[in-house]
Amino acid sequence: MDGNGRWAKDRNQPRHSGHRAGVISVRQSIKTAAERGVECLTLFAFSSENWSRPKEEVSGLMKLFVEALRRELDELHFNDVKLKFIGNLDLLSASLRGKIFEAEQRTEANTGLRLTIAMAYGGRWDIVEATKVLTRQVTEGSLQINDINDEIFAAELQMAGVPYPDLLIRTGGEQRISNFLLWGLAYAELWFTDVLWPEFDQSVFDEALSYYTSKQRRFGHTGDQVKAVGC
Ligand code: FPP
Repeated sequence: MDGNGRWAKDRNQPRHSGHRAGVISVRQSIKTAAERGVECLTLFAFSSENWSRPKEEVSGLMKLFVEALRRELDELHFNDVKLKFIGNLDLLSASLRGKIFEAEQRTEANTGLRLTIAMAYGGRWDIVEATKVLTRQVTEGSLQINDINDEIFAAELQMAGVPYPDLLIRTGGEQRISNFLLWGLAYAELWFTDVLWPEFDQSVFDEALSYYTSKQRRFGHTGDQVKAVGC
């Protein structure tokens, strides 16, 4: 969700007003995803690297997250959304962790859109943590090195239990992954737009979805193989 700062700057407003406007796009995107039948939506709200932003911006963002969760939880629950948070959540304030716990608990049994919010998340951190877990199991003797495979590794990642992403959307004009779901994005379609996040609306979301549906997903097979067996 890139481009909040530039959106605010273009309007001679402080960066924080860009983040506030970004929350409106988040709300709209969740609604669009649910309406379009998207099963899982994952939002990169705050990266491991974002901690190095100016102190006031970081604390403003943290307050915004608490406020947004307080305001939106009832409606998300009413709309059957199941919430999950990933990242190094121990680094977040007690009040934000409390809201996260409440949101996950309340929506646990919901069966609609699976909404994951990444906070204090980094793809490399995720891989390193999974490696530590498996290494411990090998050291203790409960896992053999040769038994480690994609499936066993993925089960220790933060997104365990959630299907791999089919489509990555990045706003704000940059064409990079920026340490997002490094493992899971291996076969995702990538879609980039110059639109700044606060201007990401239903029509831009639909453009991204059309791009996705126009792609033939081959997963290493040839185009003819895919047509023949639909794999
Ligand atoms: C990146 O744009 C945006 C962020 C680091 C914050 C994203 C957060 C929100 C949109 C609020 C989301 C709220 C919830 C509850 C999920 P940037 O600041 O890097 O923009 P710039 O590249 O134009 O400076």
